[in-house]
Amino acid sequence: MSLKDAYNRKIRDLRISLTDRCNFRCFYCLPHGEPSWAKKEKLLTFEELEYVSGIFVSLGIEKIRLTGGEPLIRRDVPILVEKLSRLKPALKDIALTTNGSEFPRHAEALRSAGLDRVTLSLDSLDRKNFEDITGVDGLRKVFEAIDAAKATGFAPIKVNSVIVRGRNDHELIDFAAFAREHSLAMRFIEFMPLDSGHEWSREMVVSGKEIRETINSEFPLELIENSRGSGTSWKYRFADGSPGEIGIIAPVTDMFCGQCSRIRLTADGQIRTCLFSNVEHDLRGIVRSGAARNEIADFIEEVVLKKEPRHYINDAEFIQPERTMSFIGG
Ligand code: GTP
Ligand code: 5AD
Ligand code: SF4
Repeated sequence: MSLKDAYNRKIRDLRISLTDRCNFRCFYCLPHGEPSWAKKEKLLTFEELEYVSGIFVSLGIEKIRLTGGEPLIRRDVPILVEKLSRLKPALKDIALTTNGSEFPRHAEALRSAGLDRVTLSLDSLDRKNFEDITGVDGLRKVFEAIDAAKATGFAPIKVNSVIVRGRNDHELIDFAAFAREHSLAMRFIEFMPLDSGHEWSREMVVSGKEIRETINSEFPLELIENSRGSGTSWKYRFADGSPGEIGIIAPVTDMFCGQCSRIRLTADGQIRTCLFSNVEHDLRGIVRSGAARNEIADFIEEVVLKKEPRHYINDAEFIQPERTMSFIGG
């Protein structure tokens, strides 16, 4: 089976947000103060997630990434991973994106439940700057999470860093040195207009090109040919043969929508066909109305046909989505 959209893109990658809550307050994502979180009864239960994931996989989904908010804020995530693992081998890959704060104590359980890969977020290597960006004095915890991921056998370990002008662009070389020293895939992401403060401006975006040139001036890079595929990042190796890898994710200046293979499910059970969708599709309502499995499958197929051709960040009439990254799922 394969799930195709109206532009003939194969949809293989489902990103599930487990909760919109987070214990960090990254300025590019969540505001300070208390946002209005989704009510518990609206969250899809693990049983519902297992059920709908099974339908998605039967339709052609091969990869599931668990995100948030901070997914590990939700209790018993290893139990969900174990349930999803039952969908293998049709499901080829289960991954997790986490801020790392809760990761060390769950690493072993996640690994034995069948989690294949983990991506950690790390926006500064400086304790004070880390706190300025995330609102939490948690740098040491992320270092522990990287160690825990290594010790538990996750490989490769991807580390995401959203680069914002004047906030952490001065740390690019340090990040590259960190990738080399710790054999990590360090991925730099252009700041996207998904912040709840609606403070995004074009001047704050450090382009993928500038990021690459900055690193290349200190550590020459070689493009890994055809590395982007239907993924998000161009990948580079260090020309001197050092371990580590650099990934550049440039959704603003080098759009990858034409190859997009992703759809998203929010914690409250809404399908979003694009990060930047202005509409959502109520899967939770259909599932809870007692619809039959084939009716749910038909609904998903119809929704996928509505997937947007691309984002409109660079168009004059662009409207920032109401929900921010922590609600949508990174
Ligand atoms: P894998 O291929 O599963 O390893 O994941 P990935 O390479 O897509 O990376 P990851 O899931 O860690 O996503 C990295 C970042 O890319 C996210 O945190 C977002 O900032 C951005 N991103 C991911 N998917 C999309 C997308 O569909 N559109 C846009 N514009 N940005 C995305
Ligand atoms: N722009 C780009 N990436 C973002 N993320 C969150 N908000 C934004 C944004 N405004 C990404 C970060 C984080 C992941 C969960 O989502 O990579 O690591
Ligand atoms: Fe939390 Fe991730 Fe959003 Fe930061 S980017 S506030 S860690 S969900």
